[in-house]
Amino acid sequence: MGVSFEQARTAKPAPEIAPVPTAGSRAMSLKFEIQPATNPTSEKERAARLVDPGFGRIFTDHMAVVRYNQAKGWHGARVESRANFPLDPAAAVLHYAQEIFEGLKAYQRNDGGVNLFRPDANARRFWNSAERMAMAPLPEPVFIEAVEQLVRIDRAWLPGGEGSLYLRPFMIASEVFLGVKPSAEYIFAVIASPVGSYFKGGPAPVSIWVSENYTRAAIGGTGAVKCGGNYAASLRAQAEAIDRGCDQVVFLDAVERRYIEELGGMNVFFVFDDGSLLTPPLGTILPGITRDSIIALAKDSGTRVREETYTIDQWRADAGSGKLKEAFACGTAAVISPIGKVCSASGDFLISGGAAGPVAMGLRKKLIDIQYGRAADPHNWIRKVL
Ligand SMILES: Cc1ncc(COP(=O)(O)O)c(C=O)c1O
Repeated sequence: MGVSFEQARTAKPAPEIAPVPTAGSRAMSLKFEIQPATNPTSEKERAARLVDPGFGRIFTDHMAVVRYNQAKGWHGARVESRANFPLDPAAAVLHYAQEIFEGLKAYQRNDGGVNLFRPDANARRFWNSAERMAMAPLPEPVFIEAVEQLVRIDRAWLPGGEGSLYLRPFMIASEVFLGVKPSAEYIFAVIASPVGSYFKGGPAPVSIWVSENYTRAAIGGTGAVKCGGNYAASLRAQAEAIDRGCDQVVFLDAVERRYIEELGGMNVFFVFDDGSLLTPPLGTILPGITRDSIIALAKDSGTRVREETYTIDQWRADAGSGKLKEAFACGTAAVISPIGKVCSASGDFLISGGAAGPVAMGLRKKLIDIQYGRAADPHNWIRKVL
């Protein structure tokens, strides 16, 4: 007899490979050596690049780097000129994809200061990703210090208005050895990219393609962590979405192929006619920090939020009957994007007539106002860097 999705989803994961031991505790910190770039981008050139930065195409002058080996543990913390890594062709990451990353943003406040949004949550998720991928976990204070130091040195790259500085911490396995085992050496780095809006056309409703040929994550797999391999495996499905004229792909569970999981790079929420919200439960999906923040903000205002499974057939039926009022995707890059249209091999359907709904747009504004320091921060999510 087969195992149902619910049974499989709640089953205990198989024991994991023991992580590479760390040379310090989870609370360890390091002092960063700061070496400013000798030939930074001129003010004129920087201003020109910031006019229309797009997403993830332009980069600041510096990067933060910390190294790990078994003898020294985490060491050599530096902020230096952004440059290529010398990487041996036999470096483990190039063969077995032992790689993890994070994504968070720095926001310029009206008073000229700079906010980070929940960097401690990213640091924690990075630690969890490292453990799952049998990599040396990075102490959370080192993660946060690396991010803060980079924001401080490259603050001139923060775009004004609704732009932000996207920060990309990542870690690669750098040991030179062609064997399938956890690497004994790692490079952790943070780079920064000034960004405008993620989706072309800002928060206009997006269309999504339901992937029936490909899945993103299986129980016991790596769906709940942020490793590069998850994204490599999603590209074919995303290409299929683009082919069908859609902006993004939404994945179904890998067991029964009917429960909504998440988009290629965002979590998903549903809004019902009684005002309640539903979002798929954690397990195989990425525990999004935006998802967690939306749950908290919705609950603050007395909204009922269920973390429950929801099938594609129910979605279609509820959109048809009017029970479903809105659906939206959420993540650091785009914050909240209303979903206007769902396309699948068995036909398309619209949500709230294809328009952006008030709940999605209201939550979006609430969250953005906190991020930019324009609203009170009741959950202490903001960390002022400057
Ligand atoms: C697969 C996936 N789901 C969800 C998210 C949203 O996570 P967060 O809100 O932490 O950015 C992301 C983005 O990082 C993602 O890549």
